[in-house]
Parts: sequence; C-alpha cells; structure tokens
Amino acid sequence: MTTTNEILEYLLANSPWVDRDTTVDTVKAGDPGKPVARAGVCWFAAMDTLREAHAAGCDLLVCHEPTFWEHSAGESAWRNVPPGAEKQKFLDETGMVVLRAHDTWDQWPEVGIRDSWAHFLGLERPVYLSEETEPHRYHGIYEIKPQSLRAFALQVAQKVRRLGEDSVRVIGDPERFVSRPAIGVGCAGPDREAVARGADVCVVCYDGAAYWAVRERLAEMGAAVLTVEHGTSEMPGMEAMCVHFAQRFPEIDFQYFAAHPCPWTVQPA
Ligand SMILES: [Fe+2]
Ligand SMILES: [Fe+2]
Repeated sequence: MTTTNEILEYLLANSPWVDRDTTVDTVKAGDPGKPVARAGVCWFAAMDTLREAHAAGCDLLVCHEPTFWEHSAGESAWRNVPPGAEKQKFLDETGMVVLRAHDTWDQWPEVGIRDSWAHFLGLERPVYLSEETEPHRYHGIYEIKPQSLRAFALQVAQKVRRLGEDSVRVIGDPERFVSRPAIGVGCAGPDREAVARGADVCVVCYDGAAYWAVRERLAEMGAAVLTVEHGTSEMPGMEAMCVHFAQRFPEIDFQYFAAHPCPWTVQPA
C-alpha cells in the first residue's frame, strides 16, 4: 500500500524547482511510513478540519499552508503553546499524518496553484506566463474582453462566493476599462513586473499585498487592484490536487475539505 513518504517523493521527484534541503514540503506530524487508505486534501489544516478529516477516517491530511502558523519546515514555535499544543495533542492521540505540499504545488504545471486559479476565474487566454522569462511559474497575465472594472470585479465576486468569500475589495475607478488581469500564487502576487508587461488589474491577496507596501503602490503605477483572501486564491489549486492525487494514487480514497475560518463582510444598509 502507498505511504505518505511515497506521495511526498512523487511531489518532489516531479518538482525540479524545489530544493529538497530547504523545502517546507515535509511531514509535520505522524508516521509517514504507514500505509494510507484514506486521505484528505485542504488548503489550511485548521483544528476543525483536522477533526473532520479524522472523523471521516483519514490517515493522512495534505495541506498547503503551515499547520502551526510558521513558514518553516519544523513549524516549532507554536507546537507547545496554545493553541498549537491542543493541535499537537490531537495529532499525537490520533496518529493522523499531516503533509505540507506548498513549494511543489505552487508551481506545478496545469493543475497547480496558478493555473487552477486562472482556470477557476475563467482566464483561459494567457498573454504572458512568468516561466517565459523567470525561473518560476508564479505569475500570469491574461486577455479578457475589455470591460469595466466594476463588471470584472463583479464576475470575480460571483465566482469566489462558492469558496466562501462573500465579497472582493477593489482599488480603481469602477468605470475604467480593463482587459489584462494578472494573477499570482498566494502571497507571490503580480507586482510591478506585471504592470510593466501591460497588466491593468492585479488580482492579489491580503496576506501578500499589504496596503501601502503593495496595493497603493500598484495603484500609483496605474493598475487597478482586486484583493481576495489568501485561501480563496489557492483553494482551486488544492481542489485540483485532490482530483490529481485520486487519479495518480487510485488505491487511496481522497476527499477534499474546504472548511477553514473564512472572514465575512458586513455593510451598513
Ligand atoms: Fe501557495
Ligand atoms: Fe499561500
């Protein structure tokens, strides 16, 4: 039977862009040598998601982001203090394995984070992909029918609602026309290089694009800026991972877990 180690090796062996010595794609909990019969895939291993996956019979949960809120292979800073201690205790008691697939999946072609996000947003006509000039697959610029920023933002808002995001926030004149949206990979969003290549609206996430450091600067460069939550921009890629793994490892029963704490919006009437 397949083990977590074999799944990790499949990811690493097909990710020549990843340095095995420094990658954060490692096993965070549990015994990776155990056979896996049922596995969950999620964007973030929130406590409730761990419980849900365990209740569903998962031996393994594959996540994209840190389980213990620290972008390092060891994720050690919060393991012994609340709320990490409770999570660690749960993992110790259940023996569920947690594997992070981040550096591999961010750049995985076609079904990885960027290309799945583009597909989810209906951006099917790339005019620039970063691998053409850079040693990474983080950014893309796409051609769309010229339309008002308001209309484009509304389309994105309608699409991301399925992911649990009830609004998007926008910088730029709502009536200006846009035709070249740029997207990125989670926190590695499109920036001045994309604007220099003709992007007129940058789709970024709050975690990667702080207001004055990024979004206001992009606005001063003449780009409109559309911001979504970090998870919203990466969940399509993790849903695609679940489908991909189910095909690649048919002996394992894979299930996608969408839930993690999602912000909601209130507007005065
Ligand atoms: Fe990512
Ligand atoms: Fe991310």
